[in-house]
Amino acid sequence: LVAKDESPIAFDHDCREGICGMCSLHINGEAHGPDRGITTCQLHMRMFKDGETISIEPFRAAAFPVIKDLVVDRMAFERIQQAGGFISVNTSGNTQDANATPISKHAADEAMDAAACIGCGACVATCKNSSAMLFVAAKVSQYALLPQGQVEATDRVLNMVKQMDEEGFGNCTNTGACEVECPKGISLENIARMNREYLIASLKG
Ligand code: SF4
Ligand code: FES
Repeated sequence: LVAKDESPIAFDHDCREGICGMCSLHINGEAHGPDRGITTCQLHMRMFKDGETISIEPFRAAAFPVIKDLVVDRMAFERIQQAGGFISVNTSGNTQDANATPISKHAADEAMDAAACIGCGACVATCKNSSAMLFVAAKVSQYALLPQGQVEATDRVLNMVKQMDEEGFGNCTNTGACEVECPKGISLENIARMNREYLIASLKG
């Protein structure tokens, strides 16, 4: 294409080390290709046979419209984050030292595991319903497990789930495909935790 003075195929990438979540490609029918626990930029050519034809498509989901060639718009994830994926911290100069609040090792580990989500969208691309539940559950969980996340906990889960629905993501039907394809090993347990958080918040509301 370049030799013919045409534009090369457009695709997204940034970090090339599995941390930015930009390289959203469906390769030979699988999000991030035929390997587990990796993003496209971590996929090695040794996973393919000599002379094999490799088929590459953009992530397909109504909430991830294709911008050009293999580039999709994942801003829906950003809007879900903006709806509640944050905590408020007093920055007036009297900020409490983070270590002043004891957190159990178990809670810290689980919060850290949830926070490993890089927002790549493989869970959505893999789900037959294009559900974003694993992504949203990871973002809700990373705060729900920590004392710092309790202040906005009720509004957070209600607002993030509302935004998720408004963006047009499908419902979760517990097939578990998202967990299999997630490059960061985000567990389905996070979805169960978010459902509990949502139920409690709904009863309070
Ligand atoms: S839950 Fe996993 S697959 Fe989904 S956006 Fe986060 S890292 Fe990507
Ligand atoms: S380019 Fe950043 S995760 Fe692949």
